[in-house]
Amino acid sequence: MTTVLKLGGSVVTEKDEPETVADERLANLADAIGDAVAADGASDSTVDDLVVVHGGGSFGHPNAAEHGVSSTEGTQDPTAVREIAGAMERLNDAVVSALAGADVPAVPVHPFSAGHRDRDGDLTFPTGQIATMLAEGFVPVLHGDVLAHAGAGATIVSGDELVVRLAGDLAADRVGLCSTVPGVLDENDDVIPEIAAYEDVASVLGGSDATDVTGGMAAKVRALLALDAPAHVFGPDALTAFLAGEPAGTRIEN
Ligand code: IPE
Repeated sequence: MTTVLKLGGSVVTEKDEPETVADERLANLADAIGDAVAADGASDSTVDDLVVVHGGGSFGHPNAAEHGVSSTEGTQDPTAVREIAGAMERLNDAVVSALAGADVPAVPVHPFSAGHRDRDGDLTFPTGQIATMLAEGFVPVLHGDVLAHAGAGATIVSGDELVVRLAGDLAADRVGLCSTVPGVLDENDDVIPEIAAYEDVASVLGGSDATDVTGGMAAKVRALLALDAPAHVFGPDALTAFLAGEPAGTRIEN
């Protein structure tokens, strides 16, 4: 059973404090993952092969904004690349350390050194190294990052884009997005339990033609619907349930 889990940047960092890790939240998440990994082999275990991807929150985003870098706007300034990649490495170090502290066999993977975009912006991201890490019992921990981009210097790849790519290429059985919201919310701010088609939620999230340059919930839902695996969007309190294979937040499956 392969699981790809994204820990949102606003969950693992204090979003409004520059480069500040949310130590307690991160430790709690790491404990939940540690318990699930320790239960591996037990008859009710749903987590054996686990890939973790985290976002930036108060790391990376400020550097990217300062240098005018986004997923489409690139930079040829090596200082900008070093600053963004460096900030994300520092956060990755904190996430990997927290997981290691909870006895998770976590190892760092820095996407800048692994992937790139072509002139059309299409992502190339090899996953043989990730599959081998999983087969050898490691838990690879990736993150949103800066990426070399043909003709544009370097642009941003979000953790969400990596999650979708990894889930497809590794034929993941389950995908989880742990963010600060308890799920995809309807117009009354109640969690929508299940989404099977974009039309079901278009009125809440925006029409199906709406472009979502901010990478908000509409883009996430569309990308997750395109996966073969069921995906769940949930808050930190539901991580243990998700890892146990129980209902968590909003289930998204075509
Ligand atoms: C941010 O990744 C990557 C940067 C280098 C800016 P995400 O876009 O996945 O981060 P969050 O989860 O939204 O903070």
